[in-house]
Amino acid sequence: MTAKRWLTHNASGSRRVIVTKELPGDRWLGRLADADCAVEVCMSPDILSTQEIVAAIGGRCDGAIGQLTETWGRELFEALKAAGGTAYSNYAVGYNNVDVAAATELGIPVGNTPGVLTETTAQLAVALTFAAARRIAEADAFMRAGRFHGWLPTLFLGELLWRKAVGIIGAGRIGSAYARMMVEGHKMNLIYYDIQRNAALEQYVAEYAEFLSQHGKQPVTCTRAASVEQVFAEADVVSLHPPLDATTHHLVNAQRLALMKPNAILVNTSRGPVVDEAALVEHLRAHPEFRAGLDVYEDEPAMKPGLAEQPNAVIVPHIASATSWTREGMATLAATNVSAILLGYPVWQKADISPFLGDDPSTPLRAGPPRAAPSIVNAKELKLPSFQG
Ligand code: DGY
Repeated sequence: MTAKRWLTHNASGSRRVIVTKELPGDRWLGRLADADCAVEVCMSPDILSTQEIVAAIGGRCDGAIGQLTETWGRELFEALKAAGGTAYSNYAVGYNNVDVAAATELGIPVGNTPGVLTETTAQLAVALTFAAARRIAEADAFMRAGRFHGWLPTLFLGELLWRKAVGIIGAGRIGSAYARMMVEGHKMNLIYYDIQRNAALEQYVAEYAEFLSQHGKQPVTCTRAASVEQVFAEADVVSLHPPLDATTHHLVNAQRLALMKPNAILVNTSRGPVVDEAALVEHLRAHPEFRAGLDVYEDEPAMKPGLAEQPNAVIVPHIASATSWTREGMATLAATNVSAILLGYPVWQKADISPFLGDDPSTPLRAGPPRAAPSIVNAKELKLPSFQG
């Protein structure tokens, strides 16, 4: 294990916060400096081991910002608590890498970064959908290999998704944003599965259908599926948006893949283990007309054997939230979660986190951010006060 380089910002701060990866922008550093924190940032792109993070926490540490690539389990929260730490934030909206129960037991609030990734992640899911449907990666490789010798009526025939059925599993913020982009942009009928009804999404589609009717166009429809299987069987595209937990691990398996249309498209921007990736590789091999658009992998950063060789899979390296606007916003939210807890502020309760960011995450807010922690996932269990305002 080689020693990693750490860089300290605001070294004179009376509190100490560690951040396990360099984060984009610098507004987030300002939020921590405003809370009088010295901020120690690990400059290595390597994934830190639990042992390395324990060493970084050391004997005194007030708070930490960690990554989805690290396992924030009991051992780390015990080390943080023993060092006097009272705040943790994941630099991600997903927090399947965090043992929230252990943190709660130790009295440590756990923050995440919702809201700022919604449209960005949905946009990449759309990009993967059409890259898969229109065989963009295959065609790009073909061009670069100098194999294009002239227009042909049969070259790279793909799928037209216009007026077909789009399915989503998980109709939370990102799933709904993807659904709206596909329904509105491509006039697709929506079929969704979620344990909770999404009345706002249903109403959105109903109002859009009404708009189409008024303009003499065929309306779109919205169906809440009774089962995951119904979505797999009926949709031409299925995009996955559930959180990863024991109930969604391998939600996509060989049986469910077998229900899909032979020329359907599967898109995953949620978490890799939601898909049994070995089963998907087999399915892609057996069904050349079936396509997948993948941002996440079961054993990230590795891929299951055979996936990289499948021309009918479009594969990108977990970049769904990778725009400067979003990644800087995530940094600001994570830093504000930690600084607000250290300052004893209450917890924001609204889904809209824009007051913490403004329009441009790289410029300071004129009025300053609300005196609140934007998103603490165990706020209720820890009985943290709610922001009134
Ligand atoms: C998240 O935030 O959970 C994404 O996977 C990374 O942006």
